[in-house]
Amino acid sequence: MMNKPLVFTIFGSTGDLTYRKLLPALYQLETRHLLPESLKIRCIGRKNLTSQTYLESALSWLQKGSRFPFEQEVYDRFSKHITYIEMSITELNDYSQLNEKNKDIDHLYYFAVAPEFFEIIANHLKDSGNLEYGSHGVILEKPFGVDENHARYLNERLSIIFGEDKIYRIDHYLGKEMIQNILTIRFANRLFEGIWNKDYIQEIQITASETIGIENRGAYYEQAGAIQDMVQNHLLQLLSYVLMDKPHDFSPRSIQSKQVDVLKGIKTKHLILGQYDKTGDLLAYREEAKVDHSSQTETYVALELEVEDERFKGVPIFLRTGKRLNQKATYISVIFKPVEGALFEHLAPQQEMLIIKIAPDEGVYFRFNAKKPGLAQQVTPVMMDFCQSCIYENRINTPEAYERLLNDAFNKDKTLFTNWNMVDLTWSFASTLNQFRKDHNVKLELYPSDGSGPKQADDLLEEKGSSWIPADITDEAYT
Ligand code: BG6
Repeated sequence: MMNKPLVFTIFGSTGDLTYRKLLPALYQLETRHLLPESLKIRCIGRKNLTSQTYLESALSWLQKGSRFPFEQEVYDRFSKHITYIEMSITELNDYSQLNEKNKDIDHLYYFAVAPEFFEIIANHLKDSGNLEYGSHGVILEKPFGVDENHARYLNERLSIIFGEDKIYRIDHYLGKEMIQNILTIRFANRLFEGIWNKDYIQEIQITASETIGIENRGAYYEQAGAIQDMVQNHLLQLLSYVLMDKPHDFSPRSIQSKQVDVLKGIKTKHLILGQYDKTGDLLAYREEAKVDHSSQTETYVALELEVEDERFKGVPIFLRTGKRLNQKATYISVIFKPVEGALFEHLAPQQEMLIIKIAPDEGVYFRFNAKKPGLAQQVTPVMMDFCQSCIYENRINTPEAYERLLNDAFNKDKTLFTNWNMVDLTWSFASTLNQFRKDHNVKLELYPSDGSGPKQADDLLEEKGSSWIPADITDEAYT
């Protein structure tokens, strides 16, 4: 629990991230009585708003973004924490109004702004004397920098100003319940722990598909694209959890050092890039606000990777993510090798498969073979499908990612935040992808919205005798 009163200051409080994720997460914490009464939330923005009008602008987001039914009483309690402060983050003079001059306060800042502003805000906080009293931590939203070199420079600057132990680099996927569950499934079950290697695993797929487009984030997205927006952080986190060796314990140091080992040894074999096109009423990416009419930015990425690690050498690993697809689903599919020997060959058993469903459905699906009931000797796939999110209590009890992570940061728990080493490696990986794009002259494929992405991504797997495992595979097995 916190010892000192906390002041939480959000820079970029009229942006998409704050409305969509941060405020609903804070509101949910209030629903669970997890916001300390003394907590002050200062929302900084350039717009001319009062605390009252700011809250009004946030209301619909709280209503639709919360996993709990909206309650006036909770909202009234929540509103009391919020103060809106109109200021320009680039104006040093404006920062004087933030200075509490109280050494008995903990400060936590959230930089929900483009990375170009990280250094300016940090410098201005320092130069205006804001960092002189009390303790000061900072939560950094991705991307950490505009490119590899900028990220390194920025990291140095911010470490000097705040100190590494006060920097919380957020990757909200780490706050998702089922990602935390990957290690449990892998290492708490002899069945999976024993066969988690190239002798038993034929292929691994990771899918993160989204139905939404880029929303109001044209300017940011033009710079980031899907590689920086999704692959570099969220997908690599997932991948490293799937491939990493057993950590000594659950400390961030042990886990992240094993993740780092994975990231050091991945190589790209194929890269497919796509961009969503106009379909019916849905705009093409190039028609979105603040997007160049001939933009070459990718909104879809499919990758084939291989790892150097002896345990997985030769196992094809496919990753895909895209916007404006026909399904919102994040899941990991592990396909096992067929059983050797002739005993069942003529009965064509299907390959066993484990699917870890991350979101929006949370659960674990395991497909295996059994005898079909009847007089004949027939084999049929059956499945065990544990649907964690189907259980009402669980849906309510499972905190959303930002909710968990903000609560952890308020309690100074850095377990689920990324260290610099990891971030540095993910930047290097993103650079190798960009280089790969140039070296192999990878074309941008236009794909219709509301479909399954570019055909080339299907062909990539088909050439290897495989196909993408659909999120609703459940239907295929015999129950
Ligand atoms: C964010 C990306 O980090 O993750 C967004 O910037 C993306 O573009 C979002 O939509 C996806 O998160 P989730 O939790 O909805 O899968």
